[in-house]
Formats: sequence, C-alpha cells, structure tokens
Amino acid sequence: MDVNTKLYGLMGHPVGHSVSPALQNELIRLYGLNAVYLAWDVETAGLEEAVKGGKSLGIGGFNVTVPHKKNVIPYLKDIDEAARKLGSVNTLKYTPEGYVGYNTDLPGLMRAFEYDGVSFEGRNAVLIGAGGAANAALGAILESGANRVLIINRTMERAEELKQRFEAYYPAVRMDCVSSQTAAVKLMREETDKWNVLQATSVGMYPDTEAAAVTEEAFYEMVDCGVDIIYNPEKTLFMKKVEAAGGTAYNGLKMLLFQGVRSFEIWNELKVDDKYTEQLLDIMRGAMKR
Ligand code: ATR
Repeated sequence: MDVNTKLYGLMGHPVGHSVSPALQNELIRLYGLNAVYLAWDVETAGLEEAVKGGKSLGIGGFNVTVPHKKNVIPYLKDIDEAARKLGSVNTLKYTPEGYVGYNTDLPGLMRAFEYDGVSFEGRNAVLIGAGGAANAALGAILESGANRVLIINRTMERAEELKQRFEAYYPAVRMDCVSSQTAAVKLMREETDKWNVLQATSVGMYPDTEAAAVTEEAFYEMVDCGVDIIYNPEKTLFMKKVEAAGGTAYNGLKMLLFQGVRSFEIWNELKVDDKYTEQLLDIMRGAMKR
C-alpha cells in the first residue's frame, strides 16, 4: 500500500460474517490493482454521514448490504435500471458529483444461472420467499424469461407487494401468490411441465440446517431444478429434497460470487475472466469457515 492505494469497502449492519472482503481482495490481487477492500459496520443513523464521508475521502466504491440497500438511494447522484426496478442498491461507484448506485444482485443471479446451466426461459417458476433476497430473485427469474411465476410466502401481504412491484414491467407473465404449501401444490398441478424453483427465504441457513420453508413431498415431485439462495450449509435441506425427488439442485454461493464480481467490474471497468470462478469460490468457502 502506498499514497496511491484506492479504498473500497462494504457498508452494512452487521458485516461480521461477510465473505466480500476475502472475495474482493482476491480479485484485486488477481488483477494486480493497487487497492484494498474493507468492511464497515454502519448503523442506519450513520448511513448518510458514511456516504458523504466516503465521497470526501474519495473512496472508490462501496458494496451496500442489509439493512441499507433501499435507504441509501436518497444519498446517491443516480441509480441504474436494475436498481430502479428492484428499489434496491448494493454497489456504489464514486464520481466527483456523487456516488452512482447499481444493483448487481440481479445480474449476479442471472450469471449464476448461466454458469450452472439453469434456464428459466419459457419455464414455470416458483419463488419461495418475499423478502429482500426474493426481490432480486424475482427480478432475475422474470428477466430470464419465465412463462409463469408462483410466489409462496408465509406472509401473503409481502408476496402480493412483491408481485405488484414487477407486474407492470412484465404484463404478459401470470403471477400467483399463495401462503400455503397445499395451495401451491394445487396450482402447480395445473401445468404438465415441471417447475424450476428459487428458494429465497432464510429457512435452512446455518445453524438451523434441519429446516426447509416447504416440506410437502408432493411439491418436490414437480420440481425439475431447485436453486437455493443459501450457501451455508453448501447443501441445504431444500436441495436434498429436490435431489431426493429426482431434480437437480444448486446453492447460492455463485450468486454471491457473481454479484461481487459484477461490482468489481463496474468499479474497474473491466470483465473478470470466468477462468477464475472456481478459485474465487474456494476463497469464499475458506472465508466462511473462519
Ligand atoms: P432477506 O433479506 O434475507 O430476504 P427478509 O427480507 O427478512 O430477509 O426475508 C426473509 C424471508 O424469509 C421472508 O420471505 C420470510 O417470510 P415472511 O415474509 O413471512 O416473514 C421468510 N422466512 C423467514 N423465516 C421463516 C420461517 N420460519 N418460515 C417461513 N418463512 C420464513
């Protein structure tokens, strides 16, 4: 590090378990940049000051995570199209006039689908969950060309809100909301084709690894491919159930990787080579175990 070292970092609350510093510093090393990426625990009351301070100090960029992805928007000069659609920003890039906000969760998810060979194009899709992670997940499913979407969430109202956010952008896609697994199974049976599922709740995440948001066996029999947004544990109960019923399953580690990769690409105006993917995933696995 020297007088020219550029600073980047994560703002969230909490940030103690984040693997972003390990990932971003490895990217910095691979591309031989004179930069460093840190993590800052910023409470909501200090968010505006943190953004202003970052600008004054010339901090090159931030990742923004829970609970600031929406609240940070008023402090930005501009936001990109994905951020506008989702109402959520996870990446800030410095400009002399102020930070520009981007959402890389959505393109990160799409790149993970592509990497794993998961296609939602013309498919029936189930989204489990309706929180922050589900917001990006629904955006990615719709952008990937899903034909029909079923949102299952414990709280019906949140599922409806999520649907409303997107229906104007995708008027041709039929979207249904249900809060019970039985109702979901009934609607799924209307279709002869199998369903691709994106699990976007926190249920099943370490240390509560014996749980799954959906438990009905009949549900899993209709699943072709299941993607869990959770990456710790690497194989969740949801994934085990998908596989036991004959489907293929993936976890959320690549989504986390590619959202970070996309942020790095935005900050540095370059394209990260796919040849680094497995190496970067290993770095993230190592950082998770600490
Ligand atoms: P995140 O940013 O991780 O998505 P969130 O916005 O709090 O976090 O959303 C958590 C999601 O997990 C929601 O869909 C939540 O369901 P509710 O909207 O009904 O709260 C879901 N979830 C969390 N715990 C759950 C549980 N025990 N059973 C079913 N769903 C649960």
